[in-house]
Order: sequence, then structure tokens, then C-alpha cells
Amino acid sequence: MAVDNVNDSTSTSPAGKPPVLVSFEDGIAWVALNRPEKRNAINPDIVHAMLRILDELESDDRCKVLVLTGSGDSFSAGMDLREYFRATDNDPKTRAKLFRANGDWQWRQLRFYSKPTIAMVNGWCFGGAFTPLVSCDLAIAAEEATFGLSEINWGIIPAGVVSRAVAALVRERDAMYYVMTGENFNGRRAAEIGLVNEAVPLARLRERTRELARVLMKKNPLVLRQAKIAYRMAAEMTWEQAADYLIAKVDQGTFRDAENGRNTAMSQFLDEKSFKPGLDSYRR
Ligand code: COA
Repeated sequence: MAVDNVNDSTSTSPAGKPPVLVSFEDGIAWVALNRPEKRNAINPDIVHAMLRILDELESDDRCKVLVLTGSGDSFSAGMDLREYFRATDNDPKTRAKLFRANGDWQWRQLRFYSKPTIAMVNGWCFGGAFTPLVSCDLAIAAEEATFGLSEINWGIIPAGVVSRAVAALVRERDAMYYVMTGENFNGRRAAEIGLVNEAVPLARLRERTRELARVLMKKNPLVLRQAKIAYRMAAEMTWEQAADYLIAKVDQGTFRDAENGRNTAMSQFLDEKSFKPGLDSYRR
């Protein structure tokens, strides 16, 4: 199927350009922050567009895997210093609403999104952009990408939930180093410290992301949804709570799975001997 560009006009910014581009390709929804001339700095237009787009893609069958990326040479230069911060300095009500809405898409929605999500970091990635990056289930970066917790450089701490998000993935020594120095690092270093799964040359980035999305699309979508959400939930529970919750989720999954995956797979392995669960997915 050819790439189908779907940029709905309701998301058009005052400048007449959609703040976020969505295109579909064989089950992948490519979602690109689209202010390349501002290095995809996240302004209110992007916040509101992302809220709506995430909401719509949850129930859009063309989206089986969501890839979050940026137009041009930037993933995102973080929060927009002019439109997100300075413009709301003297307007606490607008600021509170905007900050809340930004948290809604960047982590409340994304961390528990019902479909698999991959962050594809194609270039600059600073400050507030770390939150959606961490909130995606998986992340692949260009080796050439430039990351930075630049807040310290311009006189604030990594807030929103950037500090919390970084702490979820990165070892404390590395996290503190970048929080306190604001030093830049590249995609390879981002992979080394666990911020992304892997780094590949920029020229390979889209194809590698496609390959990963295709692997995910072969899985049973209900079980995939359960697996990612259960992992995040269980990580914050005691062992006893996790054991109880996880077995309840297994039962729920078995009960609700329209394709009866567990039994199909068992029969293919134990009776037909036609597949090995250790080596691949069952035939759906
Ligand atoms: N907020 C507001 N505007 C931003 C921005 C941000 N976070 N990041 C980039 N821009 C704007 C620039 O002001 C410039 O606008 P102008 O053309 O009207 O002058 C435009 O985007 C291009 O940026 P420029 O700095 O000229 O591009 P560059 O390629 O030389 O540098 C960066 C790219 C990302 C290194 C640089 O723009 C930068 O340091 N941005 C801020 C990153 C940051 O600290 N973000 C953390 C926010 S929490």
C-alpha cells in the first residue's frame, strides 16, 4: 500500500500548516511534529494537535503501530521558550491549563497508549522532548542525533516530568551528569545509557523503524497491549501485588482474546509441532 498522507485540516495552525503530520503506511502511523523551522519546539498548537491525534489514532484501524518523530532535521527542540514559557509567564490560568494538556499527551496518554509506540529520534532532542521520548514503548535514534538536558543552560531544572522520565530509564550517575552539565550526547551514547533501544545511521533510521514496527504487527494486538501496560503497572507494585495483578490480567486476556491465541499457539506447538514459541510467533 502506498503511503497515504492524512493531514486533517482541523489541525492546521494559524500559519496554515498542520503542526503535526500524520501519514499511514501498511499499519504504521507516522506522526511527525511539524515545525521544522523552529526545530519542532513544542508550542500550544502542537500540544492540542497531539492530544487530538493520539485520541483519534486509538480507534483508527490504519494505525497498528504509532511512530513519533519530527519533520526536517529535528526530533524536537523541547518546549517552546517563547510560546510555552514566556507567553504564559503572567497568565497563570492559561499556563496551568497548557501545562496540564501537555502532560496529558506527553505521558498520561502515551505511557498507557493502547497501541505500540516507537520514538524515532531523527535529530535534535532537548529538554521537554525527553518526556514523550521516554513515554514511547521503544525508541530508535539516529547515531547522528544530538540530545541534551539543556534546562540547566537556560536557568531552570528539567521539570514537567522530565527528571522523573529520565530516572525511569537512565542510571543515576549518567542522569545526574547530563542534568547537571547540560552536555550534549549523540544517538550512540543515548543507546549506551538506556535512553533508546538502539542507534543506527540516519540513512537507515526509517527502515530500521519499519522493521521493528513489522515485528510488533505480527503479534497478537490484544496481548501486546496487555503486555506493555502490565509491565508498566507491575514495575510500580510490590511483588505480591504484581503476582496477583498479573495472573488476573492473564485470565482476562484469555477470556477476551477473540483469536484465542493461547490455545491456538499451544496446539501448534504441542499437537501439530508446527512452531516453536521460543523461536517465533504462532501463526495467526
Ligand atoms: N523554543 C523556542 N524557539 C526555538 C526553540 C525552542 N525550544 N528551539 C529552536 N527555536 C527557534 C529559534 O529561536 C529559531 O527561531 P528564529 O528562526 O525565529 O530565530 C528557530 O527555532 C531555529 O533555531 P536555531 O537556533 O536558529 O537553529 P539551529 O539549528 O542553529 O540550533 C538548536 C538548533 C536546537 C540547537 C537551538 O535552536 C536550541 O538550542 N534550541 C533550544 C533547545 C532547548 O534548550 N530546548 C529546551 C526547552 S525545555
